[in-house]
Amino acid sequence: MSTRAVERIIPAVKASDGAGVRLMRSLGQSPHTRLDPFLMFDEFGSDQPEDYRGGFPPHPHRGFETVTYMMAGRMRHRDHMDNEGIIGPGDVQWMTAGRGVIHEEMPEQEEGLMRGFQLWINLPAAEKMKPAAYRDIPAGQIPRASPAPGVEVRIIAGQIEVAGTPVTGPIHGLSTDPLYLDIELGADAGFTLPLADERNAFVYPFDGNVRVGDSHLDRRHLGILGSGGELSLKAGPDGARVLLLAARPIGEPVAQWGPFVMNNREEIEQALADYRAGTLAEPA
Ligand code: CO
Repeated sequence: MSTRAVERIIPAVKASDGAGVRLMRSLGQSPHTRLDPFLMFDEFGSDQPEDYRGGFPPHPHRGFETVTYMMAGRMRHRDHMDNEGIIGPGDVQWMTAGRGVIHEEMPEQEEGLMRGFQLWINLPAAEKMKPAAYRDIPAGQIPRASPAPGVEVRIIAGQIEVAGTPVTGPIHGLSTDPLYLDIELGADAGFTLPLADERNAFVYPFDGNVRVGDSHLDRRHLGILGSGGELSLKAGPDGARVLLLAARPIGEPVAQWGPFVMNNREEIEQALADYRAGTLAEPA
């Protein structure tokens, strides 16, 4: 089976979003830094309250999904469907904006470390206007598996096979069929993972650095993988922790205006008109 090489490296750059939350953005810095169906990938992480205090006050989304994965700290989420919840370390929030969501994500702490990730996954045209949906997934519902010595994998979405047994994450059955893994590698640990060739995939080391096939990937450098049948990861003596994302590309035109991601300009204008008219998001 051929091994997937790192085809392109996107170093995360400093950005600010919401009400002044400082973050590191890799995918989504520009229209040229997307990987179908992944639109944006942010890491936020700071122990300085001024970097996160402002949070993300009420704002809309239409046409895609947002996935928040917390590492440290607590965030309170609230939306127009009266969903409300706090996500803390290891928890995931999977939100399908569909035709429209208005929500806020505010820090539930005044000091201390806040760390996590937000990923935007596109929806195909046929699903952009489906009803909004929201799931909070507590850390305890995310299965863990050890596919090799010194390797622990948390399976947030999709399925992997470990010693001949499939292990399925809480999110599965979506049309883009995303695989979202958090992979912890101990000192000098490594493993290979079969990865269907038709899937686009990237690796993002957030603690330490890692070898991907023959390439070296530094912390906060997003590595887009080329084609091939399997992924090979190896940590150095300090170990590493990386996220792996893979999904089926949609192959449709992308028109984005801030928090609206549609297929063309007319649909973006419709989203803006609906938002102004107060009809973007409908109560559940
Ligand atoms: Co949002």
